Amino acid sequence: MHKRTIWVHPKDSTCIQVIDQRDLPHRVTIINLRRSEDAARAIEEMWVRGAPLIGATAAYGYYLACIEAEQQTDPQLYLKQRAHRLMQTRPTAINLAWALDRMAKSLEQPLSPADMVETAFEEAGKIVEEDVIISRQIGEHGLPLLHEIAARKPEQPINILTHCNAGRMATIEYGTATAPIYLAHEAGLPVHVWVDETRPRNQGAHITAWELEKAGIPHTVIVDNMGGHLMQHGQVDICLVGTDRTTRQGDVANKIGTYLKALAAHDNEVPFYVCLPSTTIDWNLKDGLKEIPIEARSQREVSHLKGWDERRNVMSEIRITPPGSPALNYGFDVTPGRYISGLITERGICPASEEGLLALFPEKK
Ligand code: MRU
Repeated sequence: MHKRTIWVHPKDSTCIQVIDQRDLPHRVTIINLRRSEDAARAIEEMWVRGAPLIGATAAYGYYLACIEAEQQTDPQLYLKQRAHRLMQTRPTAINLAWALDRMAKSLEQPLSPADMVETAFEEAGKIVEEDVIISRQIGEHGLPLLHEIAARKPEQPINILTHCNAGRMATIEYGTATAPIYLAHEAGLPVHVWVDETRPRNQGAHITAWELEKAGIPHTVIVDNMGGHLMQHGQVDICLVGTDRTTRQGDVANKIGTYLKALAAHDNEVPFYVCLPSTTIDWNLKDGLKEIPIEARSQREVSHLKGWDERRNVMSEIRITPPGSPALNYGFDVTPGRYISGLITERGICPASEEGLLALFPEKK
């Protein structure tokens, strides 16, 4: 398994490589991104996904646009158009806007076309390297929560519930929600993960389960509707999830179904933590329910199921709804901060509130 989810081609720095996540876990295919349009399609069609990886792919897309801009009569206009195209690919994860903004800022000073390419290459590389460090720090700050649970119930599994994929494949390495789990496993704690399958695209069943299986971490895939039942029966010690956008007041947009898990956790007094790099905080927004744009995706993801046909050894799609039944497919929901026990960031854990976030990030006051 590749250690990282995005990297520069070892023999050609104008080619960015990613793992095509559409066929995981059944087929691992590497895709070359050679044009900024390839990066845009990779995000739009979810060859890559997960907020931090979307940001990193957009950053490299911007770098590829800088290479293309060298051949344009108006390089600045061209760059603006390509940034706009990248920006339109997915609406909810704020890392996309954050990364594009950071790339544009790095090129604000007057530079020759060749220097622009060089600077953009370095900046995208920095975004990737920083994300690895941030994920590791989230893991370090989350680990004591798992140690506390272990101390309360020695010799017994620490049951963690997670939703969607906030693992390695959603970031560059470690993941966000999975980072404390990896570190706990390394430290010898008996972790066990309940993996929500996460309909309609099944990122939990396809990707989180695959990552945990490769890391040798005990886990069980469950249907999305089972978490509440497990919580009522004391089978979940903690929920750890990721986020695509967190507002200034600590509301969290994450994969559809996260809100229902937070409600069930609240009712059953199960701690519910959200793991996030600060790149996922949208400091311009307050009320997540009113202000976060929620992606509406194709009906086909609901009406059809995708998986591996074991008889023919191919990826296959089957219809599960009557052809005449319409479907509705919002990709994310918003969990208000009041249902969140804490936000685990690279700087530590804080309450899911404006005061909490500003105490960790005073420069945003
Ligand atoms: O639609 P996706 O697969 O991009 O959604 C991913 C999630 O919702 C993740 O939980 C989120 O991006 C956090 S990733 C560290």
